[in-house]
Amino acid sequence: MNSTFWDERYGAEAFAYGTEPNDFLRANAGRLPKGRVLCLAEGEGRNAAFLAGLGYTVTAVDFSAEGVKKTQRLAREKGVTVTAVHADLATWTAPDASFEGVVAIFAHLPPPVRRLVHGWVARALTPGGVFLLEAYSPAQLALNTGGPRDAAFLMTPASLREELQGLTIESAVEIEREVREGAFHTGRAATVQAIARRPA
Ligand SMILES: C[S@@+](CC[C@H](N)C(=O)[O-])C[C@H]1O[C@@H](n2cnc3c(N)ncnc32)[C@H](O)[C@@H]1O
Repeated sequence: MNSTFWDERYGAEAFAYGTEPNDFLRANAGRLPKGRVLCLAEGEGRNAAFLAGLGYTVTAVDFSAEGVKKTQRLAREKGVTVTAVHADLATWTAPDASFEGVVAIFAHLPPPVRRLVHGWVARALTPGGVFLLEAYSPAQLALNTGGPRDAAFLMTPASLREELQGLTIESAVEIEREVREGAFHTGRAATVQAIARRPA
């Protein structure tokens, strides 16, 4: 799906995935060391605005111009500051050791781009920095309550262990849970949740 697809989705008045953060992020945000957090493929900014509200210095990256506008709007409405970067993760890379935390919530990138990004997350983190991820797993194809319909875009604990070079995986589990995160992510869902750390 290209940026035009996402611009059309985010061009609507309503927030496609709501204005509240992802459940896994809400439950685990406290694991992120205080400081700077990068939200990958952050869409309309719900997770970024939440983290900014907790006192983090947040950068959100997405290749949808409409998503970036929505992120800026949500930050304004919530009275927080988020740096919203309009960029394609196929070419954009975070500077080395520039974030205490990196967050990827339903960041279903094209597989080569995902591998590239997962390859530099460890370098982007400061020593001791934390990576939080929730994504749909292949079992989601049978549940059909949101997410890509192409298995190559989905993730497993094993694929994450392989791709997240340089990070220590503290936990990576495949689960089923109720997801109620906007009109496009609603219902019983199969996801992978991972917590990883750059060794100090
Ligand atoms: C399912 S949405 C998730 C949005 C957000 N993380 C959330 O949880 O609400 C996937 C996002 O990936 C973004 N995306 C896909 N490919 C991208 C790329 N190559 N570079 C940057 N963003 C990309 C889309 O624009 C879209 O916002």
